[in-house]
Amino acid sequence: MRLILMAVSLLILTPVFAQQKKLAAKPPMGWMSWNLLADNVTEQDIRSMADAMVSTGMVKAGYNYIFIDDGWQGGRDKKNNIIPDPAKFPSGIKALADYVHQRGIKLGIYSDAAPLTCAGYTASLHFEQQDAKTFASWEVDFLKYDYCGAPEDVATAKARYTTMGNALKKSGRDIVFSVCEWGPRKPWLWAAEAGGNLWRTTYDIRDKWKRKTGEEGSEGIWDIYEVNVALQDYAGPGKWNDADMLVAGLYGKKGPSSYKGGNGCTQAEYQSQFSLWAMMSSPLYASCDIRTMDEATKNILLNEEIIAINQDELGKQAERKINNEGWDILVKPLANGDYAVAVLNKADTEQTTTVNFSELGLTGKYMVKDLWQHKQVTKGKSWKGKLASHETKLFRLSAQQ
Ligand code: GLA
Repeated sequence: MRLILMAVSLLILTPVFAQQKKLAAKPPMGWMSWNLLADNVTEQDIRSMADAMVSTGMVKAGYNYIFIDDGWQGGRDKKNNIIPDPAKFPSGIKALADYVHQRGIKLGIYSDAAPLTCAGYTASLHFEQQDAKTFASWEVDFLKYDYCGAPEDVATAKARYTTMGNALKKSGRDIVFSVCEWGPRKPWLWAAEAGGNLWRTTYDIRDKWKRKTGEEGSEGIWDIYEVNVALQDYAGPGKWNDADMLVAGLYGKKGPSSYKGGNGCTQAEYQSQFSLWAMMSSPLYASCDIRTMDEATKNILLNEEIIAINQDELGKQAERKINNEGWDILVKPLANGDYAVAVLNKADTEQTTTVNFSELGLTGKYMVKDLWQHKQVTKGKSWKGKLASHETKLFRLSAQQ
């Protein structure tokens, strides 16, 4: 009897332990401060955003992180401990961590693998162990680790990220490690080994669809998608390609995302980004003012059927099956045997198409649910319909009984 009981409890407990061990088993989701506040972020902002994450239903929908980006730092104390800016964060980071934890939200923080961060604040080079311990003592859950002011070669990047990766592992707390060197050194090839759970694949996103001539160094949704979509082999539970923040709801307002042509997108383009980022198993970081977001933005960020595609347990990044002049079609296999299919109209005009599922390698007959309309739209072996310029339709295909 006792043996049977032991066996049963092992069966019940094993998956729980296994889950606890894997950091970032699903792509992290949350709200990130940079696009809206740049380095003017304060503890009051973080508190009010955390409250908004609860009251708007974001936490319930799965957004369970709040990420303080650059600008929180106030230098080092006499013992070289990194400290927050006393004017912006008078209560300290630990008190803020307590505040968000009480609301079911984890806390992310930011540093850089050089003496100073991108915005010129105190960073962690040569203080990795000490800073990792400090972050752990504040009960921080996530570190975004940037690369401004650091040498360009791959070997140094690997070494610096490994040093911080190891420091976090020894910090005494589970802290998700986000590598942010923007892609030039192909972090998908080495960042997981350095301890990274996710890595940015491009330079910063701007609030626009596509880079135009003269906008070099300024990435639109399309530009980032094109890089990220080809990296599906590198993603999986605990190791994600990070396609940067969601721009829905920013509407081209001033701030870092409005740099060089970041004048805003159409609603179809904002929806496309959400669909494509979900398909690519990218982290989902909302970045607009969620305290005042409009209904259109809520409809995007709180689309729980699309969030389920992003958070699917299998953790497979979608594969691009069709890539022709007018269309991209992606397929993402899901844990329960369903498939998510994204159809993107790349043209600058409205277009009509027929998608034959067999051309995507899906040879059965399917019930086809449109995850923007939240209803079954057809069944069988194909779907036909019209898409606005730059719109992405997202479908869930379940085998027809
Ligand atoms: C870099 C990063 C951004 C942001 C800023 C902060 O540009 O890529 O995401 O963190 O630094 O200074």
